[in-house]
Amino acid sequence: MKVLFIGDIVGSAGRRALKENLPALKSAHRPDFIIVNGENAAGGKGITAAIANEFFEQGVHGITMGNHTWDNKDIFEFIDDEPRLIRPANYPAGTPGEGTVTLKADGKELMLINVMGRAFLPPLDCPFRTLDKLLDKSKKRPKAVFVDVHAEATSEKIAIGWYLDGKVSAVVGTHTHVQTNDEQLLPNGTAYITDVGMTGSREGVLGMEREAVIRKFLTQLPVRFIADEGKYQFHGVVVNIDDTTGLATSIKTIRIYEGEFKMH
Ligand code: FE2
Repeated sequence: MKVLFIGDIVGSAGRRALKENLPALKSAHRPDFIIVNGENAAGGKGITAAIANEFFEQGVHGITMGNHTWDNKDIFEFIDDEPRLIRPANYPAGTPGEGTVTLKADGKELMLINVMGRAFLPPLDCPFRTLDKLLDKSKKRPKAVFVDVHAEATSEKIAIGWYLDGKVSAVVGTHTHVQTNDEQLLPNGTAYITDVGMTGSREGVLGMEREAVIRKFLTQLPVRFIADEGKYQFHGVVVNIDDTTGLATSIKTIRIYEGEFKMH
C-alpha cells in the first residue's frame, strides 16, 4: 500500500496548498491512505470541526495532532466523536480523544499512531513505553503501522526511529516545520524521516507572520502570533509498504512551492 503523509498544515495558506495540490498528487501517486498533521490548521493554533471535515471531504483518511491539540476549544466538542482525528497517545490517562486509530480503505487497514516527544515540550508520559503498549504483539492489529512522532528534538525522533525499526512500517517526525533530508529505510524495514516539514506560508517564520515573530525575538514581550497568508509551500512524504510484511519498501519526499513547482 501507499501512504501520503502531509506535514503540519498551517492556517489558510496551508489549507489552500492542500486544496490546490491534492488532486494532482492523488493521480500521480494513487495513495491508499492520506494522512495530515492538522494541529496548526486553524489560524496556526489547533483545528476546528469544520476544517477537519473539509480535510476528510478532500480525501484525507486520518489527522494527527501535537502540542497545539487543545488550542482551539472546538476540539473538545468533537474529538470524542471523530476517531479519524487522533492526538498524541502519551497524554495522561483521561485526556479526551485517542492516540491511535485503525484506518480502513478499499479492504486495506493501516494503524495510525501519534506520540509527542518530551524534549522542549510538555512532560507527557514516556513515548517509548506508550508505543510499547500500543504495539503489544498479543493484541490483534494491522500489519501496516504508521507513526507520527511530534517532537522538537532531532535526537528524540531518531531514537524512536531506531527503537521501532522492524516493528512498524514508518516513523515520521512533525512539529519543527522544516523538512529534513534524511529520509531512509532503516535496516529492518521501517521508513524514517526526522521531519516531514510544513504546509503553509513560506513567507513567514514556520508559517506564522514574520513581523510578530521578529518582534518577539527583539523585545521578549508577549506577542500574538497569527498564521501568515503568503505564498505557500507543501511538504510531505510518500511511503510504500509491502502489504504482506507490513515493512516499507520506499520513502520519498514531496516539496511543492507556490509560484515554482518542484516534485521529488
Ligand atoms: Fe507542534
